[in-house]
Amino acid sequence: MIELRNVSFSYPSDGRQQVKVIDDVSFSIQDNGFVGITGKIGSGKTTLCKLLCGLLKPSSGQILKEGRVALAMQFPESQIFENTVLKDVMFGPLNMGLPEEQARSVAEKSLESVGLDGSFFDRNPLRLSGGEKRRVALAGVLALNADIYVFDEPATGLDSRWHDSLFELLHRLNDSGKTVIIVSHSIDDIAENCRTLVYLEDGKVADFGNTADVIPRHRSLETRAMGFARRLASEGMEIDYTKAVTRKDLADLIASRIQFQG
Ligand SMILES: Nc1ncnc2c1ncn2[C@@H]1O[C@H](COP(=O)(O)OP(=O)(O)O)[C@@H](O)[C@H]1O
Ligand SMILES: [Mg+2]
Repeated sequence: MIELRNVSFSYPSDGRQQVKVIDDVSFSIQDNGFVGITGKIGSGKTTLCKLLCGLLKPSSGQILKEGRVALAMQFPESQIFENTVLKDVMFGPLNMGLPEEQARSVAEKSLESVGLDGSFFDRNPLRLSGGEKRRVALAGVLALNADIYVFDEPATGLDSRWHDSLFELLHRLNDSGKTVIIVSHSIDDIAENCRTLVYLEDGKVADFGNTADVIPRHRSLETRAMGFARRLASEGMEIDYTKAVTRKDLADLIASRIQFQG
């Protein structure tokens, strides 16, 4: 469980007037949740991630947590610094005080869970492809064995194949009992994957709740499936586009309108 109570945050001012980047935010996330955070650039998503994992402290308000929170920063591959893949992923567990042997075993498991087998362990991570580097970085975060994982824009800059395997990985993590929180500017990714949605506007929670309830309340959160359904409605099909939040919703709605013959 993680609960924010009237949390506000301002970055240290450089003489100008201080602006609340996070402004009186309250919500709570249950154990084993799968939560999306969305909002425009500058709405405070990354700052909120840093508050959730404790990298920043609220200027006012409280954050109550049960369990440990790990953060995968945006472009986590930029933080790779060891000269082998295995050493890089072992860094976190070793730093947490795990003995070498155990740290190695945790790191190997994490690497395997992101689809990197033994043939990668001794390679120089800096000479891997972009997608492979991202996997190494994610393995490093998974190896921290937290209860709550926060991913800041994990899919940004990924090709579609790795995009899909990333979400499979996040679902496996969630199925294993972990809480998964992702920041995404892709409302489609959130609609397809997250049960709960936090919608930020100028550092405030503009809306919070079940993803399928929140999305239809805001024109700015329209998914591609909804856009498609809206077009069908404008062409005369009797279809409620606000119910076509995901691709599956859309397919079901269309199927219910088609008379099968034969
Ligand atoms: N280290 C920092 N110092 C001062 N201002 C910052 C810092 N980081 C972010 N900001 C400002 O805080 C606001 C929210 O930023 P951020 O949390 O990164 O938003 P998002 O991730 O939604 O794009 C922006 O106006 C940004 O310029
Ligand atoms: Mg950001």
